[in-house]
Amino acid sequence: MTSRSRHIVTIVGSLLLVAFVTWLLFIAFDESAVDNKMSTLNPLSWQAQRYHDVYELVWWLSGAVFVAIMAATLILSILYRERPGNEPRRDIHGNTRLEILWTIIPIIIVLIMVVPTFSAVIAVEGDADEDALEVTATGHQWWFEFTYHDEDGNEMFRTANEMHVPVGRAVNVSLQSNDVIHAFWVPALFGKKDMMPGHNNRLWFTPNAGTEGMHYGQCVEYCGDSHANMRFRIFVDSEEDYDQWVANQMSDASWSNDELVQAGRELFVAKGCNSCHQVAYSKDDAPDWLIPPTVAAIGPNLSHIASRTTIASALMDRDEESMREWLANPPAVKPGSRMPNLELTEDEITKLIAMLDSLE
Ligand code: CUA
Repeated sequence: MTSRSRHIVTIVGSLLLVAFVTWLLFIAFDESAVDNKMSTLNPLSWQAQRYHDVYELVWWLSGAVFVAIMAATLILSILYRERPGNEPRRDIHGNTRLEILWTIIPIIIVLIMVVPTFSAVIAVEGDADEDALEVTATGHQWWFEFTYHDEDGNEMFRTANEMHVPVGRAVNVSLQSNDVIHAFWVPALFGKKDMMPGHNNRLWFTPNAGTEGMHYGQCVEYCGDSHANMRFRIFVDSEEDYDQWVANQMSDASWSNDELVQAGRELFVAKGCNSCHQVAYSKDDAPDWLIPPTVAAIGPNLSHIASRTTIASALMDRDEESMREWLANPPAVKPGSRMPNLELTEDEITKLIAMLDSLE
């Protein structure tokens, strides 16, 4: 290589390095990433904040190490580069003082990271507040089931894919799985934790004041075909809205005498939907065959599906168009879905949607 082409390679290489570092800095401080509902950069509970603080500390420390090493490499390469009239340097064989120094500095850096890491883990993994809301989250291929309990641990109601919690109160979540290993994660509120079959994991979080609204969650352990389609939402409600939501979830499914709704109800049984999905009718004049026994849910409990914003594990908005697409062929929307294609006609789908929309 001629010295001229070597020069060009050096310049192009340096420019690429500068562009790369600029790009890294750009994504690290990108404001739109903070607005993203799957970002960890905007923690909304003290538990998420503690982990975020550790992340930030490690980010700045490793940034400082990166810059120091790059600067030293650059300066030494320029100072001691080969050039006419410059004698090649003698090799040196060890320098005790230097070696002690570069052993002690990393030890100090590691200690600076270890102390806040352990204290954050101990705080976040500790016992939940006494008055914490008790919820069991169960992973299924591919949706989330949420079971709410009263203070004595008795089951109050079950819902799916959308969890509501009151602002400012601790939520103690028991994590379980019905089949394979899944994992539970809402970046804004808490870190990832596995949902294992036959093993009870738990996590807890306390949504900060002022965080009312919807937060995205996602399964984060590869669990089969539709792992990426296994989503959920957490709604942080005011105390009042939350109480109202609970009261509604605990009530019977609404009973409408609308003709289309009744036709949908009959179809719901005729097509065997009720063998997987519970709808809690305890209405006195409801026929026995319409009240499914309380069995382990194979599919989401639909007693109050019209109170949810989404369907299909928070994959689609709960609107007419999406419901049609879903009911026409679930495995086409969510590959591997346990809900089969029931070969429903457009007319049957219309009836079923009327019935589902009545379940507020
Ligand atoms: Cu469930 Cu991935």
